[in-house]
Amino acid sequence: MREDLKALAQVDPAVYQAIVDEEQRQAHHLELIASENWTSKAVREAVGSVMTDKYAEGYPGHRYYGGCEYVDVVERLAQERVKQLFSAEYANVQPHAGAPANLAVYFTALKPGDRLLGMNLSHGGHLTHGSAVNVSGQLYQVQSYGVDPESERLNMDEVRRLAKEFQPHIIVAGASAYPRILDFAAFRDIAQEVGALLMVDMAHIAGLVAAGLHPNPVGFADFVTSTTHKTLRGPRGGFILTTPEWGKKIDKTIFPGMQGGPLMNLIAGKAVAFGEALTPAFRQYQTRVVENARHLAEQLMARGLRLVSGGTDNHLMLVDTKHSGITGLEAQNRLALAGITVNKNTIPFEKEKPTVTSGIRIGTPQVTTRGFGREQIEELAAIIAEAITAPHDFDFTSLRGRVETLANDFPLPGLED
Ligand SMILES: Cc1ncc(COP(=O)(O)O)c(C=O)c1O
Repeated sequence: MREDLKALAQVDPAVYQAIVDEEQRQAHHLELIASENWTSKAVREAVGSVMTDKYAEGYPGHRYYGGCEYVDVVERLAQERVKQLFSAEYANVQPHAGAPANLAVYFTALKPGDRLLGMNLSHGGHLTHGSAVNVSGQLYQVQSYGVDPESERLNMDEVRRLAKEFQPHIIVAGASAYPRILDFAAFRDIAQEVGALLMVDMAHIAGLVAAGLHPNPVGFADFVTSTTHKTLRGPRGGFILTTPEWGKKIDKTIFPGMQGGPLMNLIAGKAVAFGEALTPAFRQYQTRVVENARHLAEQLMARGLRLVSGGTDNHLMLVDTKHSGITGLEAQNRLALAGITVNKNTIPFEKEKPTVTSGIRIGTPQVTTRGFGREQIEELAAIIAEAITAPHDFDFTSLRGRVETLANDFPLPGLED
């Protein structure tokens, strides 16, 4: 029995077992889901702390409950650290996740029926950027921009043309599955030309931005939203950066507008993660994430796989599995047999249903946290390419063994003790 989970094992063996099983799954599989990572033990200790018990409606110094002196300490630390990390003037660290952070900006800056210009979901955008199945696509009139059919990259002239035609109240930049650098200066210029606000959702790239490896949207955008749990390697959660003027309105939208009590244990975890992200070690880590992604992309292409836009500038890539003769769903299932976790993903100009898709998304944040370098990335690329191009009756046992070796040689830090 695990010493640190002794009480749980006694009180609730079923939950205990599921947690231990999940830990083993993470330890023995290679997680290549671009939006996932492996938090430090310090972050998990903060998240698992007594801060979970405290109600703290309101903001530091202005709470609706007594006994908030220590939760105030962690929320102020989280605010100050995230402002320092991104050179921002104002931060709200209470959004429970990325989706509510985005909605909070819309609820603050738009009225129902206003016009929103965001990136097409199947070209890499996020549901909350105006998809018809999301409240953002139901409350607002939405126009979406996509990538160029040839280059599979954003064409800012086309975004400008659409913006002039559509006259949006807000332009949303940012993506869940776009492997290239986003030109925030161009987005800002377009927004100014058409009199729109600009929101940048940097959820995926926040860690890269913090490390100076992707341009910082702060200073270009009126609102910057993010999650904390992707490249930034924090606990699950969201935050919003903005100007002091908008900040007061955002605060009111989050509480009392949208949420009740903030999740103080998660805010404590955010504070720890932001502190970690301020260190030189984090910058080195992000540099390796990007190097590993670039190397993996090159290696996969050298083995005949087609990557959307021909490669990557960030932490993720999209593989067009249809080019190799299988759907994204089949590729996901095959890689699962080899012990590699990815997600099927729509690719630009997708012809399959979202439950099937023509591609997979691959990210390097988590294997880089394990310590992967060039050599391991080459072995990983060989395994992925073999799994995707294998005949239908292929036996995945030997690939599973090679993945197990990689996972054992590079254990998840903080799990072994
Ligand atoms: C760009 C982007 N924004 C927002 C979100 C939503 O974050 P959450 O799942 O925390 O609500 C995601 C999640 O994948 C995302 O990729």
